[in-house]
Amino acid sequence: MNQHLRPEPVPFIDLATQRRRLGKSVDEAVSRVLTHCQFINGPEVTQLEAALAAFSGAKHVVSCASGTDALLMVLMAKGVGRGDAVFCPSFTFCATGEAVALTGATPVFVDVDEATFNMDANSLKRGIAAAIKSGLKPRAVIPVDLFGQSADHDAIGAIAEADGLFVLDDAAQAFGASYKGRLLGTFGLVPATSFFPAKPLGCFGDGGAIFTDDADLAETLRSIRVHGQGSDKYDNVRLGLTARLDTLQAAILIEKLKIFEDEISARNVVAERYARGLGNIVSVPRLASGCTSVWAQYTIRLPDGTDRDAFAAVLKAQGIPTAIYYPKSMHQQTAYRDFPAAAGGLPISEALSADVISLPMHAYLDQPTQERIIRAVRGALTA
Ligand SMILES: Cc1ncc(COP(=O)(O)O)c(C=O)c1O
Repeated sequence: MNQHLRPEPVPFIDLATQRRRLGKSVDEAVSRVLTHCQFINGPEVTQLEAALAAFSGAKHVVSCASGTDALLMVLMAKGVGRGDAVFCPSFTFCATGEAVALTGATPVFVDVDEATFNMDANSLKRGIAAAIKSGLKPRAVIPVDLFGQSADHDAIGAIAEADGLFVLDDAAQAFGASYKGRLLGTFGLVPATSFFPAKPLGCFGDGGAIFTDDADLAETLRSIRVHGQGSDKYDNVRLGLTARLDTLQAAILIEKLKIFEDEISARNVVAERYARGLGNIVSVPRLASGCTSVWAQYTIRLPDGTDRDAFAAVLKAQGIPTAIYYPKSMHQQTAYRDFPAAAGGLPISEALSADVISLPMHAYLDQPTQERIIRAVRGALTA
């Protein structure tokens, strides 16, 4: 083999292949919007909300401009603000805690479970105790369905009920996943998701949605996403945002939703191949009993003592990208380190931030390419 030939780069997420598969259907959907010119609140927005409701089983779906807005809008609708404590896992994307802090409430960081990377119910109890001790009013908990797998909603829901908290599920990475046979969105939580392009169901820009069975909450959310409108947009009855989903993005999502089930199955095949190929050399993700995942990320833990940067560099030299979600947990970030955390510290979040690494994951990862990735990972660890 010619040593000077660079190995074919592998995409981390292959949006181009998906784009080719969707082909004309997306072109025509976009073209319809360009023809009717209703770029804000066009008919596709309502159609998408109906399609998402049918897919998830939720009674009401409120689309919005991003996953971050989805979280913020629910907190605003519930009147969360100064003096309130909202419990978030520390090992998550910053938007989870950011939405809380933007309302003036205090995010209280909680540790995660080592096996699932999701909120640890015992740490949540310690977080509630810490919040009460510092004079905050426990108001809500935001479990995150990290990397596509549902959090332990029964355990968290029981604590929330006992302590009078409402549950806002950050399902930004997990729309389409299920918990104990129920799709997120079909039971008592308020899941909020993101349609950022890299998400399992992504649009071609920013987007998000909230799922709820509560008609009053849905009405309030619809008001908040248009500056707190009342009878019309020049009647402002509460504080709100500019948080609408663009019609173009809705039109694209309608087409993408049609292939989403099939893509979820393909992602599961990819995850199974990784588990078979790597399970005896690294710590591969485990699904909790009764949970399915949409595999937003395939995140492994490297063996103790592995130099993660050197490992990533070896893969990169072979054209294989990796990513670290998340190199710092939220309580380690400059913007968030002064907020309280559960007593006993957050050792699992810190350990995960130090040793996780994510491999290419998408519905179009074919077997030969995946075998190349698996060989490269094994080679890098045994060299
Ligand atoms: C866990 C989590 N929450 C919230 C968000 C925010 O979503 P968006 O980027 O659409 O605002 C993301 C996006 O990466 C996320 O991963």
